[in-house]
Amino acid sequence: MIHTRVHVVNNPEEMGRLAADLFEAAIQAKPACVIGLATGSTPLPLYRELIAREKAGRIDFSKVRSANLDEYKGLAPDHPQSYRRFMQENLFDHISIRPENTIVPDGLAADIDAMCKAYEEKIESWGGVDLQLLGIGHDGHIGFNEPEDHFPGMTHEVQLTEMTRDANKRFFASIDEVPTAAFTMGIGTVMAARKIVMVVTGEDKREILRKTFWGPVTPQVPASILQFHPDVTLICDKAAYPF
Ligand code: F6R
Repeated sequence: MIHTRVHVVNNPEEMGRLAADLFEAAIQAKPACVIGLATGSTPLPLYRELIAREKAGRIDFSKVRSANLDEYKGLAPDHPQSYRRFMQENLFDHISIRPENTIVPDGLAADIDAMCKAYEEKIESWGGVDLQLLGIGHDGHIGFNEPEDHFPGMTHEVQLTEMTRDANKRFFASIDEVPTAAFTMGIGTVMAARKIVMVVTGEDKREILRKTFWGPVTPQVPASILQFHPDVTLICDKAAYPF
């Protein structure tokens, strides 16, 4: 571990409050800041906290821009399992962020290369990501960057591993309905963020968390590249903390 700041908290709610402090500070410092967002179970306490803080007048999302990490290939934005829908239901519909200021890769893109390029260009036109939120998969994926023999650079299409499809089948009627491919920001896109906050909870993430921050940097553990980012804050609960 090189630059990472580590906060070990007692439970997911405390994780949510601490992560929300970072978002609140970023938005206070720069009301039109660009935040990178993740889906999944882990960020939910954070999203609940952000919604509560805007209702309490502590945060104002009306100028904030957001870019999500990833989306399933083949799912329409209003599909119940799409990541766009997840973000609407768990955050965007409850805060003052403007719809045109939220972007999620287009799961139905006909021209995939053009969509991925436009996604990168949009983030760049906003001035880059100020604060990127990450969760982590059991295989060390961030976004949908799965273990490979290299670190993929920019937004691209990925084939999902069986481990990831299996982990995500809880949201679908059966594993056959889990898409086999997705679009994700690349490792390069993630590493270009000025600040990164990773949230990790639960004992099932303990081993991969150890490999990520206290093991060798390798594309076989994609998140391990974060050891080379100059400003990462890891917030994990006691169950996930490896020591
Ligand atoms: C989702 C994403 C994924 C998740 C990871 C952990 O947008 O980028 O990398 O962060 O799969 O998911 P949970 O939090 O459900 O364990």
